[in-house]
Amino acid sequence: MYDLTHDGRRDGHRSPRLRSLYLIPGGVALLAGLDAGLLLLGLPTPVRTDRLPEVHGMLMVLAFVGTLVALERSVALGRRWGYAAPAGLGLGGIALLTPLPAWSGGWLMVLGTACLVAVYVPLWRRAPAAAVLVQAGGAVLATGATVLWVGGVPVHALLPWLAGFLVLTIAGERLELARVGNLDPGTETAVMLIAGAAALATVASLLWPAVGYRLLGATYLSLTVWLVRHDVARRTIRSTGLPRFMAACLLAGYAWLALAGAYWLIGGRADGAATYDLVVHSVFLGFVVSMIMAHAPVILPAVLRRPLPYRPVMYLPAVLLHASLLLRVVVGDVGGVRWAWQAGGVLNIVALLLFVLLAAWSVLAAGRLPVRRLAGGGLP
Ligand code: HEM
Repeated sequence: MYDLTHDGRRDGHRSPRLRSLYLIPGGVALLAGLDAGLLLLGLPTPVRTDRLPEVHGMLMVLAFVGTLVALERSVALGRRWGYAAPAGLGLGGIALLTPLPAWSGGWLMVLGTACLVAVYVPLWRRAPAAAVLVQAGGAVLATGATVLWVGGVPVHALLPWLAGFLVLTIAGERLELARVGNLDPGTETAVMLIAGAAALATVASLLWPAVGYRLLGATYLSLTVWLVRHDVARRTIRSTGLPRFMAACLLAGYAWLALAGAYWLIGGRADGAATYDLVVHSVFLGFVVSMIMAHAPVILPAVLRRPLPYRPVMYLPAVLLHASLLLRVVVGDVGGVRWAWQAGGVLNIVALLLFVLLAAWSVLAAGRLPVRRLAGGGLP
């Protein structure tokens, strides 16, 4: 993810302003997805449509996070065609918000995810590493999810596919970074095997849920053990400033991923509303959003060519995210207390919006940074 050393000659979108346009549909998807989240919590919302609650998952995973992932990968590739990936995912999300038939948005997302798979081909040729394969595996699962969704498979049955997309993408990034610290090739092979097993278990979860979800849980737990053992976060948590902030977000995220993995391993598919909420948001809020918070100060500057300086106040949304998720999951889902589930959900939204506002303010306040400095991409 941090390989920014592309030649850029054929990148028709070198202008950071042009690139930032791709963030607009992602941002719209985030706001609409949060509005849909309120609807799903049974609370009053600014906007109410029949379709919103049905598309919350697709908006959040593919049109919001997926657009960010695809944009960053296209910038790393540096070719104009690569931007079809964030465009397809972002516009697909927008289409889901219009009265157009849902399949039109679905097909745009198929295009976006298929382009993302294609983006990994030249990235692999440039650097044939296990990390690229693991990330490409995530993009293949995303493509599977969009094709199956257009084909009529409901989101709850596609949960492992959507989760797999982001879990493998993030695991690949962390692997890439762990390699910098002289990783032994055997451990790289181990991650590839775990990622491959996770992809197979994802397919099995659809065909034979009784065994598939348990296998998936086992692979997610193994992946978490690997991440915790080899991630630099265990060392950088003892440093200061940005490296420490990132490490705190990473380690907290791994704990949530382990919880989801443990649930699936022991309990199998989550069929009840409470257990479903627990597993879904352990992965997507506890793990994925925490990872976004960790990486934003490094990734956004690479995309926008503007610095996003770390500020200690960034701990505020991060702590709020994890505390509110604990309230939602432990008291709300496990304890069966409805107000705690709702209050936790609302505070999740506040945490996410607060982080976005802080990041936007930080970028605007910091002004432009020379491209040369950013291309160094030093990461804790
Ligand atoms: C920030 C606040 C959020 C709130 C308040 C919220 C709320 C909800 C609720 C109430 C449900 C229904 C759960 C159930 O049926 O038991 C749900 C489902 C879901 N959420 Fe969220 N969510 C939030 C964030 C996210 C994020 C960030 C993602 C992904 C990146 C996400 C992905 C999903 C998915 C995939 C589903 C399953 C949808 C389905 O089965 O149709 N959510 N959410």
